[in-house]
Amino acid sequence: EKQGFRHFMHKEIYEQPAVVRTCLEAYFNREWQPGDNQVAPINLGINPELYTDLQQIEILACGTSWHAGLVGKYLLEQLAGIPTSVNYASEYRYAPAPLRPYTLAIGISQSGETADTLAALAMENQRRTGLSAAYQARLLGITNRPESSLGNLVADIINTHAGIEIGVAATKTFVAQLMAFYSLALDLAYRRKTLPEARIEEIIQGLRQLPVQIEQVLSSQEGSIEELAHEFAETQDFIFLGRGINFPIALEGALKLKEISYIHAEGYPAGEMKHGPIALLDAKVPVVAIAMPGTVYEKVISNAQEAKARDARLIGVTPQNGFDAAEIFNDVLQVPVVDELLSPILAVIPLQLLAYHIAARRGLDVDQPRNLAKSVTVE
Ligand code: M6R
Repeated sequence: EKQGFRHFMHKEIYEQPAVVRTCLEAYFNREWQPGDNQVAPINLGINPELYTDLQQIEILACGTSWHAGLVGKYLLEQLAGIPTSVNYASEYRYAPAPLRPYTLAIGISQSGETADTLAALAMENQRRTGLSAAYQARLLGITNRPESSLGNLVADIINTHAGIEIGVAATKTFVAQLMAFYSLALDLAYRRKTLPEARIEEIIQGLRQLPVQIEQVLSSQEGSIEELAHEFAETQDFIFLGRGINFPIALEGALKLKEISYIHAEGYPAGEMKHGPIALLDAKVPVVAIAMPGTVYEKVISNAQEAKARDARLIGVTPQNGFDAAEIFNDVLQVPVVDELLSPILAVIPLQLLAYHIAARRGLDVDQPRNLAKSVTVE
């Protein structure tokens, strides 16, 4: 079943190009072109009433799904102009946002069985029961298992189509959740006319390139990441830095490493380092900086240089362009240049491989890390 891979996680990392292709087929309509009023660019099959007069979105999730929600917030706000909050389901269920009208609650769960996410959605539904139409609950689920408890609880579901994931560390399901958020944000942007259709088309064309670009990252980076992992097998702390749409990817890189290698790791928005965490840095703490061209590129580079000035070993997840990355970074995990909006899907791949190879090198049970279960069905 592992098809020649030593671990399911490694196999699932390699399934990501195919998962993105499946999501592209499922969500996007090949026939659509800008100016076409007959067909829509995106088909999510969800009730259009969820969108009517929509004023804000509350995302409810845990763990890696919460990280996908943070990327989702960026897309929903920047593309569709909808104020969006991302909540830990375990917090929201006991301290929800004040009731506001025209609110969509999105529960996102790979397994569809996470107790806190289900409870937060059920609470949201319950507290709005009997209120006027504007305050009625609008619930949407994003899950890899439409037949799950989440699928039963919520009438409208976006299926993430990643196929069953066995490794406890979420990899291919995370990338599929991001694809679901791209399609949701673009669908809303199209209907609310917050983006020119030519820009929607450009983003969709960019999404269509991702499978080949993920393959490039996998084939070009695996060898050097495996070598790097040998050097870090005894490292005790890691810092991951990102900004903007890649801040959640820094969190995800740190979570993957913690979860399977048991190495302490923290993800930070790069600009926040100087407000305390920079004191942690010295030659023993490697810093992984996600530096993708776009609005915050130069900012991340200068934050990375501040870390290097504290003797940190600096690893860049970056394309080699425009400047000599070798002068700034001690090691480069190279990814192709893409539209900044699409960069999270490429930036996460080397971080998954890094966590995988460090854990494998340490001889750990990569697919079944200690103290963890694939779905957390208790509070
Ligand atoms: O099934 P869910 O997406 O609801 O799971 C949420 C978290 O338990 C999950 O993402 C967890 O953080 C993963 N093991 C991360 O790799």
